[in-house]
Amino acid sequence: MTDPRPVLVVDLGAQYAQLIARRVREAHVYSEIVAHDLSAAELAAKRPAGIILSGGPLSVYEEGSPQVDPGLFELGVPVLGICYGHQLMAKDLGGEVAATGDREYGGTQLHVQAPGTLLQDLPATDTVWMSHGDAVTRAPEGFRVTATTDRIPVAAMEDRERGLFAVQFHPEVSHTSHGQAVMKRFLYDGCGLLPDWTPTNIVDEQVHRIREQVGDAQVLCALSGGVDSAVAALLVHRAVSDQLTCVFVDHGLNREGEPDQVEETFARHFHVPLVHVKAEDRFLAKLAGVTDPEVKRKAIGEEFIRVFEEVARDHAGARFLVQGTLYPDVIESGSKTAANIKSHHNVGGLPEDMDLELVEPLRDLFKDEVRAVGAELGLPEEITQRQPFPGPGLAVRIVGEVNATNLAKVRGADHIVREEIRRAGLERETWQAFCVLLADVASVGVMGDGRTYENPIVVRAVTSEDAMTADWARLPDDVLDTIASRIVREVPGVNRVAYDITSKPPGTIEWE
Ligand code: XMP
Repeated sequence: MTDPRPVLVVDLGAQYAQLIARRVREAHVYSEIVAHDLSAAELAAKRPAGIILSGGPLSVYEEGSPQVDPGLFELGVPVLGICYGHQLMAKDLGGEVAATGDREYGGTQLHVQAPGTLLQDLPATDTVWMSHGDAVTRAPEGFRVTATTDRIPVAAMEDRERGLFAVQFHPEVSHTSHGQAVMKRFLYDGCGLLPDWTPTNIVDEQVHRIREQVGDAQVLCALSGGVDSAVAALLVHRAVSDQLTCVFVDHGLNREGEPDQVEETFARHFHVPLVHVKAEDRFLAKLAGVTDPEVKRKAIGEEFIRVFEEVARDHAGARFLVQGTLYPDVIESGSKTAANIKSHHNVGGLPEDMDLELVEPLRDLFKDEVRAVGAELGLPEEITQRQPFPGPGLAVRIVGEVNATNLAKVRGADHIVREEIRRAGLERETWQAFCVLLADVASVGVMGDGRTYENPIVVRAVTSEDAMTADWARLPDDVLDTIASRIVREVPGVNRVAYDITSKPPGTIEWE
């Protein structure tokens, strides 16, 4: 079994590149995002099946605007330029790009002149999404112009012979009616790829890789009850069966009923030994007096690993630790080799002097792909569709000290929010819905005849595709109303509820 040859998405403007990579994967072709400053030789070393130059916010002539090594057009690998990438291709190959003053932004009518390879599935006139100031005014030699708009003469062009394709519009956004059809034509016809990057193949490939990495050593997997660790555990189990031991570290920072649920679900769906370590006191001792988010994360990560090393010593010197690190964690850390930052994100800060080597079978996948792999492995929806929950648990949802009293407040409020979201049938459409306790803030309220002076709870609910960006969820008033009155009535020590209406960016989803 060989690894799939990737379609490389050259990052010329981060958000654009991520969306393109997702669309390629939705066409069942493996894609990876790479930095634009790689040389043609470095790109070639990755054995790409195709290269896509992403859009970007700048002008190709602007000082400091990202450029690519023009040698990449000579590699014999098909290339698709999108928006900024289209202009870069035109400029580097001898065409003309100019600031025409004819800025196009938003839905625009595209006139197909010649369908060529890319535009075969489009009607003669079609709506596409544009966002550009400069425009290609003359295609390079050898290229055929395949589409125009009322304002620009080269809205799409291709040189089939050399396998070079480019579009000024954004095929990756949903406002372009036939955008995915354009992507598929590039992948299937332009690059000659098959849609064979499927959950079944991902499972086979990962099983193979895990076997190679692990050999006959013992492996531990930290189960959290979340989707990622469950899927990672099942993959490793499929690869090395009884070399795997799963460990559930109850750090006392879990949601209401979670430890029991983990044990129960585990017994039902897995046939792997589970070690349940009750370590709440240890973690709370380490967190006493700590309020800085980073110090909190590090303390939890450190303790987590110490617990693990103890378990490892009891398990014939296990050498590997499975982690459910995902591709967005890898992207956010800026590089595929920056394991520490991403691991940090997962368990809250791994210490450097760790005795266990990481196994990360999900590090190439987005969350929805992990869910699909989980379904392929036979996990039920109650697990694959669960909302994400951070490794450091409720600790990063208490602004202030993590102690038993504060945990009880945030846990009680969280339970109510999740219950009401479920009751309203909104669980699937919200990416996450949870609570944050502002433990260092108190406000005045009135309850019955008496004055109260207690903490506020912030309710946070967001919609998102992959947690890289998020919008606050427009929850119905009556749901918010029920949540607010229940929290104040039922959670001791809380007398006020606020709703967080910050998107990501500029906010993050979690508060810490
Ligand atoms: P942020 O807060 O960075 O979160 O917008 C993005 C997504 O990641 C989750 N998250 C974590 N998950 N360990 C995890 O396993 C962590 O340390 C961690 N921090 C945030 C968060 O819940 C959201 O879905």
